[in-house]
Amino acid sequence: MAVHQLHYIAVVVVLIVSSSHAFDISYNATHFYVSLNGVELIRHSPEEPFLYVGSGIPTFEGQFGNYDVEDFVEERIALIDFLVDDQDPISVHFTLSRLDMLQVEIRFVTDVDGSLYYGEFVSLSDGINRVWMRLVAEEDEHVFGGGSQFSHLNMRGKKFPIWIQEQGVGRDKNYEITFKADQRDGGGGDYYTTYWAQPTFVSSRLYYAHFDTTTYSELDFRADDFHEIQIWGNSPSQFHFFTGSSYIELLQGLTGYLGRQPMPPEWIYNGTILGVQGGTEAMLNYIQMAEDHGIKVSGVWIQDWAGRITTSFGRRLFWNWEWSPEQYPNLDTVIPELKQRGIRVLVYANPNLNRLGGLYQEAVNADFLIKNSSGDPYIVDYGEFFCGIVDFTNPNASQWYKDRIIKQNMLDLGISGWMADFGEYLPIDAVFYSGAKGTDIHNEWPAIWAQVNREGVEEGGKMGDILFWMRAGYTGSQRYSVMTWAGDQFVDYGLADGIASVIPGTLSLGMSGYGMNHFDIGGYTSLFDVTRTEELFLRYAEMAAFTTMMRTHEGNRPDENWQFYSSSHTMYEFARHTKIYVALNDYVNSTIRENHELGIPVQRPLFLHYEDDERVYNIQYQYMFGRDLLVAPVIEQGRETWDVYLPTDDWIFLWDEDITSAGGETLTVPSPMGHIPVFFRSQSQWADTFRQLRDIEAVTVTPGPPESMTTSRSSTAMASHFLLAICLTIMASFW
Ligand SMILES: *[C@@H]1O[C@H](CO)[C@@H](O)[C@H](O)[C@H]1NC(C)=O
Ligand SMILES: *[C@@H]1O[C@H](CO)[C@@H](O)[C@H](O)[C@H]1NC(C)=O
Ligand SMILES: *[C@@H]1O[C@H](CO)[C@@H](O)[C@H](O)[C@H]1NC(C)=O
Ligand SMILES: *[C@@H]1O[C@H](CO)[C@@H](O)[C@H](O)[C@H]1NC(C)=O
Ligand SMILES: *[C@@H]1O[C@H](CO)[C@@H](O)[C@H](O)[C@H]1NC(C)=O
Repeated sequence: MAVHQLHYIAVVVVLIVSSSHAFDISYNATHFYVSLNGVELIRHSPEEPFLYVGSGIPTFEGQFGNYDVEDFVEERIALIDFLVDDQDPISVHFTLSRLDMLQVEIRFVTDVDGSLYYGEFVSLSDGINRVWMRLVAEEDEHVFGGGSQFSHLNMRGKKFPIWIQEQGVGRDKNYEITFKADQRDGGGGDYYTTYWAQPTFVSSRLYYAHFDTTTYSELDFRADDFHEIQIWGNSPSQFHFFTGSSYIELLQGLTGYLGRQPMPPEWIYNGTILGVQGGTEAMLNYIQMAEDHGIKVSGVWIQDWAGRITTSFGRRLFWNWEWSPEQYPNLDTVIPELKQRGIRVLVYANPNLNRLGGLYQEAVNADFLIKNSSGDPYIVDYGEFFCGIVDFTNPNASQWYKDRIIKQNMLDLGISGWMADFGEYLPIDAVFYSGAKGTDIHNEWPAIWAQVNREGVEEGGKMGDILFWMRAGYTGSQRYSVMTWAGDQFVDYGLADGIASVIPGTLSLGMSGYGMNHFDIGGYTSLFDVTRTEELFLRYAEMAAFTTMMRTHEGNRPDENWQFYSSSHTMYEFARHTKIYVALNDYVNSTIRENHELGIPVQRPLFLHYEDDERVYNIQYQYMFGRDLLVAPVIEQGRETWDVYLPTDDWIFLWDEDITSAGGETLTVPSPMGHIPVFFRSQSQWADTFRQLRDIEAVTVTPGPPESMTTSRSSTAMASHFLLAICLTIMASFW
């Protein structure tokens, strides 16, 4: 939209209120106000207008899923004037000046039966590709959500771009790791970079706002007296509001609209999923070693099931989603044997297909791949191996992925789940079957990918028995995805990308309508000679016992990083954490049910249950695990004690009946390895279950390499011999 044109066009906003029951609109010649059930949302005056429109020229630069998004704003015009057509429903026309003609039409809809209250952009004049809306804010207001936000649970004071991408390495521009990652390939990230960003927030003024757009948007919470939401493109679609008397009511409303997650398969309650690789024999040996040390195992996850290929970086997973009998001999007969023993086998898939694989060729022949502007398959270089992307905007391509890969290659083989990886890298200059623009579909893609997985499982008749887990997400994932994980944490204690970051990442996702999450036990990314220590692995493990589910990952450099099998001491300690998780099964199950039925997340910010305590609103490294457990994970190295803030309630320390509190105070409690600071509510119906956790003892062995093991000679020999074999067979791999 050129500058000169705008002087001749007017801006009209039409507000139609179809019921005065919920939206309350009052106005005079210069001001108008919109409230919902007493919560003031819009306050328009000539000095502080509600709506701005304009145009901008964006640039999206990036590689490997890291984006640098810039905007050159050409126009930004406040819509100051308005006209009211005082009928039922009321129409309100906003104009820049009454002589102009530029048309923006918004209709406000109250759907009392569906409990939906939304504004709808009915049309925008040509040329407008930016909309800015301002909502009423108060100085001491807090806001939460925005998808999975790893740095800030309370988003007030910051601006959050909503654009799906890699979460970044380090995620803090003042952190050395981030600096090095930026130097390396621009992958350092920042406080807002995440696999799951979402234009949704819950306010401490007890309303939620959700924006139904799929284009790039921004939630800007920096101003004292307004929140500004920016939406790109020419169809900002709907914006939803909902009020309630509590956060729980708000989340019920939000998940009522966005969808709720199903109950996960019950077999996850039987212990941890072990992330291992290296072939059938190695897999069976790991399971044996785990069970010999008392580790409760519910599944084994082999991401290299489709085999490996060699690049100059080393051996990488072969992205051709079918069982490789060379890599995993007899897997088809081993799977049912393991299932008999209560151990499920899980694999790995993503939307990409390696050009060297048979499935790529099938997809090319059927014309199922995303194209580039010259009509050829769009090839993405994932670091010396080249892949096409299945075009899920083509219903036949989605059906093919479901039939050929999910049902035939995975479900028919007997596997019980997979990491449904990626979803962030969708190139914006690609050409899609549906005709969608890359910038319009980029954010939505993870939800579409989740839908393909979900439908594949449903069509295969396996809902309730299959676990697929995703890191990428967006509006819509609530309805389709059956589990999330927190992505690729760096193997350290950095606040923005280390062990701590999984906590706000999970809590903010819960405030965005997705209430189940888990993480790679031990973290994932090891770079710049930083490697996972035993302490870090075990701090992750003790926290994982107080989450929805447990799963280990060997990380991107398995042989350089501490693993569950790196020492007998680690295995015995880890065994105890899996036993704690299993002992909590009934409680976990009932908590997950609250998420499934009511949208109350499994891990909850403290303010969900203690909203009158102003101090809890800025606590983001403690959480409620269900209604009755308050968890304060140790997120620093070498700590023997830890400070825990307790809101007013009757609390008992999980590990020592003598440490109690009536709350409203910070207590310093012992926090040796293996004893994560947890309090339970004394009146909990589960109090005895919690007390019994004290009796779960680890077998005592001296920390150190397997050689120092004293308790079991035979498995010592096996462990060290086996470790050598692992070092020889497993090479570092990124994906
Ligand atoms: C409209 O109401 C506001 C207060 O809500 C007042 O400040 C303003 O002067 C009024 N404008 C007119 C034209 O009456
Ligand atoms: C879980 O473990 C128990 C006890 O080992 C076993 O009886 C049960 O069958 C297992 N459940 C599943 C779903 O594997
Ligand atoms: C499209 O991809 C093909 C290979 O698949 C390549 O040869 C061609 O140059 C690409 N075209 C564009 C415009 O990038
Ligand atoms: C999708 O498959 C159906 C049935 O095989 C076929 O009739 C239709 O033409 C296909 N559509 C496309 C776009 O390939
Ligand atoms: C989970 O809860 C449901 C009912 O709410 C029950 O049928 C099921 O047995 C429970 N499972 C476990 C493992 O506790």
